[in-house]
Amino acid sequence: MEQDLPSLASKYLMGGVSSSFRRNPFTGEPFYVQRAEGPHIWDIRGRRYIDFFMGHGACPLGHKRPEIIGAVRDALDLGLFAEHDSYLSAGLAGKIVEHVPCAEKVRYTNSGSEATLLCMRLARGYTGRDKIARIDGHFHGVHDYVLCNNLAHKIDAENPGDRPSRIGGLTAGIPQAIRDTLYVIPWNRADVFESLAREKPGEIAAIIMNPIDYNNGCITTTSEYLEAVRETCDRHGIVLIFDEVLSGFRTGLSCAQGYYGVTPDLCALAKALTNGFPLAAVAGKEAVMRKIMDPADPVIAGGTFSGNLLGCAAGLAAFGIMEAPGFYDGWHARADAFLGALQGLLDKSGVPARVQWLGPNFFIYFGIREPVTGYGQFDKLDRKLMGRFFTRCIEEGLYFHTDFTVSAQHTQPVLDEALSLFDEVIQTL
Ligand SMILES: Cc1ncc(COP(=O)(O)O)c(C=O)c1O
Repeated sequence: MEQDLPSLASKYLMGGVSSSFRRNPFTGEPFYVQRAEGPHIWDIRGRRYIDFFMGHGACPLGHKRPEIIGAVRDALDLGLFAEHDSYLSAGLAGKIVEHVPCAEKVRYTNSGSEATLLCMRLARGYTGRDKIARIDGHFHGVHDYVLCNNLAHKIDAENPGDRPSRIGGLTAGIPQAIRDTLYVIPWNRADVFESLAREKPGEIAAIIMNPIDYNNGCITTTSEYLEAVRETCDRHGIVLIFDEVLSGFRTGLSCAQGYYGVTPDLCALAKALTNGFPLAAVAGKEAVMRKIMDPADPVIAGGTFSGNLLGCAAGLAAFGIMEAPGFYDGWHARADAFLGALQGLLDKSGVPARVQWLGPNFFIYFGIREPVTGYGQFDKLDRKLMGRFFTRCIEEGLYFHTDFTVSAQHTQPVLDEALSLFDEVIQTL
């Protein structure tokens, strides 16, 4: 039966997949999986791979964590009521408020995309303004407001960096009118944001950004930039939104906002929040969040499965793992040593490539040796070499897709095995 999965999938699933991001970007093929455990996945032929995709980066703690599976089983025993709040939804919100600096109140959604959509709507409702400033190249999911200029290859490449970007690449089905709801500006240019805010007084409801850009590999920012953006927001009454769907709980329990020491007004959390169960959250300052309960004109925020029991049970169990003393130190130390050794292997063999990481997420930029600080460097990328390398990795049993992740269950022996497989792949390049 499982041998027939590709034909079954291509017969009934549109494009053979359930998400358009599911075809492997290197092989161009869907990758069908039988099961997953710890740092491993098994394909439908039963072949084992060391997984560096970890379910779109949603399972950084490892697949099938017994603590999480156990908590979800217990929640099923409660009767799987999803449509009422419980100790689980309130308890998980309590954990978010305890650890995430901006979080004073929480409202759940089911996906990261819904969370960024709600952040934007909430900012609009709270300020009474329509426009959202976004960063050229930042990914925030799949709703209409975020599908242009949403990855490095879709930026306004003609922008020298000192002005707002041209809005382009609106894909089929997105109304052109969306252009009138956005300003798109380059990242790490606080001066461009300040000028825009000054030129458009009272227009901009919010700015949304990824405090760490893991969607275009691994590109970081600075506390100074984020502080300057924070100051512009405060000066002009603009809501600061961090999309922490991917960056959340990687650098620590306080997410990227704690790492950089700059607190937004709202943030979107998902993926690591539940280590792979479908639940997301908007967390933020009470003054802004309160607009959801405005008796006169509320921002609507809710749905059948918001705060669902299984996601909340998984989230609480995930916090139980992440709160263990020394948890992040050990995880990060393993990832640092492994990724440093991988860079060493590439250097030794003369392959021009830069391994770049922050916390457990990383990328390998082929064709570039210096630190990657912006998309301007992407024309130097050797995409052919990159495609060959990752296709060979998959053939050797190292699974790569997007969202490169060293999970907390990539133990030392697993990472040693991965390094020796990498070495073999590098020799064949
Ligand atoms: C930074 C970021 N924001 C938003 C999303 C959308 O989340 P979801 O796929 O849960 O809708 C993603 C998904 O990869 C993401 O990486």
